[in-house]
Amino acid sequence: MVNGSVKVKQWIYSLLTLSMIFRTEGLFVNITYLLSGMAKGAVCLDGSSPAYHHDKGFGTGVNSWLIQMEGGGWCNNVTTCLSRKNTRLGSSKQMVKQLAFSGILSNKPQFNPDFYNWNRVKIRYCDGSSFTGDVQAVNPITNLHFRGARVFLAVMEDLLAKGMKNAENAILSGCSAGGLTSILHCDSFKALLPMGAKVKCFSDAGYFINVKDISGAPHIEEFFGDVVRLHGSAKNLPPSCTSRLKPNLCFFPQNVAQHVRTPLFLVNAAYDSWQIKNILAPSVADPRGVWRNCKLDILRCSSRQLQTMQGFRLGFLRALIALGPSSSRGYFINSCYAHCQTEVQETWFRADSPKLANKTIAIALGDWFFDKNSFQKIDCPYPCDKTCHNRVFDPNVHPFDIDM
Ligand SMILES: *[C@@H]1O[C@H](CO)[C@@H](O)[C@H](O)[C@H]1NC(C)=O
Ligand SMILES: *[C@@H]1O[C@H](CO)[C@@H](O)[C@H](O)[C@H]1NC(C)=O
Repeated sequence: MVNGSVKVKQWIYSLLTLSMIFRTEGLFVNITYLLSGMAKGAVCLDGSSPAYHHDKGFGTGVNSWLIQMEGGGWCNNVTTCLSRKNTRLGSSKQMVKQLAFSGILSNKPQFNPDFYNWNRVKIRYCDGSSFTGDVQAVNPITNLHFRGARVFLAVMEDLLAKGMKNAENAILSGCSAGGLTSILHCDSFKALLPMGAKVKCFSDAGYFINVKDISGAPHIEEFFGDVVRLHGSAKNLPPSCTSRLKPNLCFFPQNVAQHVRTPLFLVNAAYDSWQIKNILAPSVADPRGVWRNCKLDILRCSSRQLQTMQGFRLGFLRALIALGPSSSRGYFINSCYAHCQTEVQETWFRADSPKLANKTIAIALGDWFFDKNSFQKIDCPYPCDKTCHNRVFDPNVHPFDIDM
């Protein structure tokens, strides 16, 4: 009896502890709709207002701002934009009202040592063009609005008015399509901030490379070309690139990064799972589905497929050279099968998180931002890295070629 009640007490105690752990880990931040931007035509694909989630800075972080651009692929034609229009990636009406902040967005020093007390803002992605689009005309039949660049500017103006105009530190960051945004908009972000502020950019899984797919077709180049044409992005891509190259090529970081003047840090897996699935071996290039299992789980790749992926890694490293040797560039290129490693606690900052040179992404990025250490590390080829958290996809949850 006594033993039993002790056990029950212990059990209740562990439940309480567990729920406390979850409560301290779970930070939910309310949505803010940007109604003021609507007069300037800064709207989502469906014409609804843009939105963001802002958790205020505190203590020594009140004048520091981490701006995190949400990712979620792109839409490249009327068909794919229409199917996105009534989802959270095309309409703020479909977005959840509270978003969980974790990893680089956490407000706890034990989870996020350098940025926990900054203003942390997650800007919702609802334009389908990595915030580059700007077409005035709206087709009355589709009612699609291509206004990503206006959304970017309107949100930044709102945040400047809310205190970012006094920023001492600022980072433009993001993951996937949002990581691409942080590269494409890096210098224009810097230009909006006060002169004396320390401003840097950070891209997680945003270094999409221009290579042919396994069938030899330029699939990603055509896809990005469609995005740029449909959204009228050309005038909002970095002029240092569009003055030299066709606009569709200026959607690729490798053609843009060398001219970015603001310090830039890249985190990317050399075998980025989105890029393997959608750039190297998209379904259109693999009609018989030979790559299907391999794309779900790197442990299921044949030795020939692994060889092809090693070739992809070399292509990635060649494209990375465009970043230039400057110490204002930092990079953390690990050999994992992953995509987006900074908003998830387990890959951002935990005892068992991915490491290069014995440093987690959180420490490498924090030290680089505060000029404590430069960081330029490329991992040895797969499967040498034992710190990876390789992604395994469930085909029911992650159907192919759904942008994520
Ligand atoms: C739109 O783009 C998708 C994805 O690339 C493609 O499968 C589809 O054929 C395109 N549709 C049209 C009408 O061009
Ligand atoms: C890596 O870091 C851990 C914890 O800081 C330390 O205990 C360990 O000795 C380091 N290993 C190497 C190889 O530097």
